Amino acid sequence: MFKASSRGRCQLMIQRAAPAKINLYLRTRGERPDGFHDLDTVMVGLDLADHLEVESAPELTLVSDTGLGLSDDLTGRAALALQAGRNLPGARIRVRKRIPAGGGLGGGSSNAAAALLAMDAFWGLNTPFPVLLDLAAQLGSDVPFFLAGQSCLAQGRGERLRLIQAPDLKLCGLLLFPGEPIATPTAYGWLDEDGLAEDATGTGELSTLIQAMARGDAQGALRQVHNSFTEPVRRRSPAVAKCLDYLEGAGLCPLLCGSGSTVIGLSAGSDLPQQVAKNAPYPNQSVKVMGRFPGSDRVTGLPNALSLRA
Ligand code: C5P
Repeated sequence: MFKASSRGRCQLMIQRAAPAKINLYLRTRGERPDGFHDLDTVMVGLDLADHLEVESAPELTLVSDTGLGLSDDLTGRAALALQAGRNLPGARIRVRKRIPAGGGLGGGSSNAAAALLAMDAFWGLNTPFPVLLDLAAQLGSDVPFFLAGQSCLAQGRGERLRLIQAPDLKLCGLLLFPGEPIATPTAYGWLDEDGLAEDATGTGELSTLIQAMARGDAQGALRQVHNSFTEPVRRRSPAVAKCLDYLEGAGLCPLLCGSGSTVIGLSAGSDLPQQVAKNAPYPNQSVKVMGRFPGSDRVTGLPNALSLRA
């Protein structure tokens, strides 16, 4: 997914995929004094991705399908944060979007992480991973995960990462897009209103999930999925409720993607999601879970989640 070609410094062109994510587990652990929520969340990538291209230009510019300019788009802000007062060559960043906005799939955060990595390579900076990780956390709570580029347990507000090595985990799914974007702060507001800032509901268990993932036990993992946003969002969005019910009725494991509004129906194989797509009530897409993003071979130095005590 990382492709660089260079015929002299000014001809350098870099391409990067910026994959979507889902949270197999997302449990809010309480509201913090800074207004954010502490989380336990398990994030994995999908084979649905935006596409980012960087090439030489007189100055730093962004052309994105979001229609936003350099300092308003998280992608541009990532490039500006890395540039930060340094005298570096100009570049044109082009972003082609396939991940819907306001869908809980992390598209904006993924673009920002891809921009950090692409611009670091374009400018030949070789920024140490922990420094990139700090920049990522300043840009947004989900950006560190996308920088790591592999399945992670994320804690704190999302910036404290542990890697989950799950090379044998095979999970497929059907994404349903109800066409009603939900802004993340709005969804957190609903969750607070419903008394779920510190969520003790459900039977999904974090360490059991991580162990099942590490063993490649898809069914075992699907028994432990949890998302604190599910009930608050289901109560307020009939379209999300319809998606969750449809996927469950069709025999898939229904899960809200992040804070919504996309819903995924998960399964160990790809046959059922593809069959279920035929009568789905909303636009949809079959996807596969990726334990590791293609081309993410950077050594992160992050600890392993399995070393967590059960
Ligand atoms: O960090 P990010 O920009 O993605 O957060 C968007 C909003 O989501 C925050 O302003 C906050 O309202 C909410 N949020 C939160 N707790 C988190 C992550 C996000 O309350 N762990």
